[in-house]
Amino acid sequence: MTTDAPQRAAEFIRSRLGDSRPRTAIVLGSGLGELANQVTNATTIPYSGIPGFPEPTVIGHSGNLIAGSLGGKPVILQSGRFHLYEGHDPSTVVLPIRVFAELGVSNFIVTNAAGGINRTLKPPTLMLITDHINLMWKSPLSGEVFDGEPRFPDMSAPYDPGLRAIAREVALETGIHLGEGVYVGVLGPSYETPAEIRMFDRMGADAVGMSTVPETIVANARGIKVLGISSITNPAAGTTNEPLNHDEVLEAGRDIAKNLGRLIEGVLEKKG
Ligand code: HPA
Repeated sequence: MTTDAPQRAAEFIRSRLGDSRPRTAIVLGSGLGELANQVTNATTIPYSGIPGFPEPTVIGHSGNLIAGSLGGKPVILQSGRFHLYEGHDPSTVVLPIRVFAELGVSNFIVTNAAGGINRTLKPPTLMLITDHINLMWKSPLSGEVFDGEPRFPDMSAPYDPGLRAIAREVALETGIHLGEGVYVGVLGPSYETPAEIRMFDRMGADAVGMSTVPETIVANARGIKVLGISSITNPAAGTTNEPLNHDEVLEAGRDIAKNLGRLIEGVLEKKG
C-alpha cells in the first residue's frame, strides 16, 4: 500500500459527507453491528466504492462506513473490519483508522468479541480494555512511516484514562455491568488451545481476541484517544468443557449489543 492511500480514501469520503465532520469513529466487532441502526441522519458509504478498501469476508461483518449522529454527537461507524487472519496486509487492517485520522477524528471507540480468560468475566458481559498485549506477531507500523506518525510511538497509555473514567461513570449510572481487564490480541483464526489460554492467564491477560490491537496502535501513533470495549461472548478454551464455535460468539454478541449500544451512547452524550 502506498502512503498516500489514506488521503485518497479520505478525499472520496469527504466528497460523500458534505459538511458533516465526525469527531468520533466507532468500529463494531462481530455480532455488534446493530448499533449502526441507531445512527440518525445516516449517510452510508459501502466499502466497494472507497479507493483501497477491500470487502470483508467474515460472516457477521458487513462492509459500510456510516456517518451520522449518535448520542447527539457526529460520528462515523465502521461496520465490517479487516482482520489479519483473512490474509490482509497489516496496512489494510488499519486503513480505516488512518482515514479517520485524515478526516479529523479525535476519539476512537473500538469494540470486539472476545473470549473470557479471567473467570470473573462471566459471558455474556462487557469488559473495559485497560491495556493490551500484542501476540499477533505483526505491527501495522512496520515498513514506511506514514504521514503524521512517529517512527517509535509511545504506547504507555494505549486506552485513554479520561474516556475510561467516563465509561465507568456511564456504566454505574445505567446499571450496566462493566468488567475491566487486559486484552491479548492473537492472529487466529483457530481458537486457542487450553495450554495457550493458561499461558495468557499467567501473562496477565483477561480476555483474548483476534482484532483491536493493530487499530489501537495506529490510533495511538496518530494521537487519537482510544476507548476499547470487549464483549465477552464465551469462556476462553479450556476454562470450561465446552467447545467454541463462531455462531455462539455471534449470538452472544447480539445479546449484549443492546448494553454496548447504551454504554457507547452514554459515553458520547457525556463526552462534551
Ligand atoms: N478467542 C479468540 N477470539 C475470540 C474468542 C475467543 O475465545 N471469542 C470471540 N473472539
